[in-house]
Amino acid sequence: MRLGLLTGGGDCPGLNAFIRAAVIHTIRTHESQILGFCDGWRGLLGGEVRELSLQGIAGILPRGGTILGTSRVDPIRTAGGIDQVRDAFRLFELDGLLVCGGDGTLSAANALSEAGLPIIGIPKTIDDDVPGTDHSFGFDTALTHVVRAVDALHSTAESHDRVIVVEVMGRTTGWIAASAAIAGGADVAVTPEDPMSVQQVVDVIRMRRARGRMFSLVVIAEGATFLPDPDGSVLQTPQKLDSLGRPRFGGIGEELARVLESRTGMEARTVTLGYVQRGGSPTPYDRLLASRMGLHAVDLAVRGEYGRMVSLKGLDVTSVPLSVVCSGPRPASADLLAAARVFYG
Ligand code: F6P
Repeated sequence: MRLGLLTGGGDCPGLNAFIRAAVIHTIRTHESQILGFCDGWRGLLGGEVRELSLQGIAGILPRGGTILGTSRVDPIRTAGGIDQVRDAFRLFELDGLLVCGGDGTLSAANALSEAGLPIIGIPKTIDDDVPGTDHSFGFDTALTHVVRAVDALHSTAESHDRVIVVEVMGRTTGWIAASAAIAGGADVAVTPEDPMSVQQVVDVIRMRRARGRMFSLVVIAEGATFLPDPDGSVLQTPQKLDSLGRPRFGGIGEELARVLESRTGMEARTVTLGYVQRGGSPTPYDRLLASRMGLHAVDLAVRGEYGRMVSLKGLDVTSVPLSVVCSGPRPASADLLAAARVFYG
């Protein structure tokens, strides 16, 4: 058997653990070959490819990023892309391809699978918004970075009697924001799924002040939107687009801090955590999940079960039809959002 493997979309901690597991299982357990395509789909569209060896993956388990590189190149949006991928399968005599990515990369994988190519998807993303799996790897490490930051910001916010707004990633979902608010003891979480008005955030800060708590920590998801205030005004989210014409997030925290300062009379500061959330060594949880998913993906390929996405269901790593990704980003659960609300104030 000869497999191909690629990592696409934004990088996240755990990708190297996944690659290592897939390589060890393919070579040692199944005595087969595995090729790594570099920079996501670009590697299959005439880019760089290299044979993965046991020697080549030595020491990569604790490393962040991906040794194969990544990109947001999309074969479905590339003219002639599907045919080029088909040609690459023939050229490299691939029996199957393991595609590790978030919703963008996996949607392309699903389209190619529906076009008849033997593909298996593996979910990774710090946003934890891939449908069909309880968790994707990368999220736990990102959450750990955010909670550490919120912990650290408490003492400086308290010392200066300030409001600190912490903007976190997550695209259109609030998994990181709501989870970090609970685990970090923040006073409010503003998420896309559970929007608030600015006035409601102001009310929480005032309520705390009335109780003698002269500082507040607000966590806001980069994709959050606001409900109208009683006077009808709505805080607007800055609109930017990336190279693929998709929304590019960032900046809402700054806007919120500006308005909170003028309405509460308290000094307000913003911390945008940005790419630090995607960096560094994966947590043990992410290493474990990524490793187990890598093993499962290879087992699916050995059994010829293509068109599937590896998935965590409860305690077990299993698989679901890859077409599950068509249902779009998975919103933060109502249960998580309700739990976050209990701690507001
Ligand atoms: O999907 C992961 C993610 O980090 C999002 O949280 C964020 O909005 C986006 O990627 C940033 O993308 P880029 O790396 O293209 O700036």
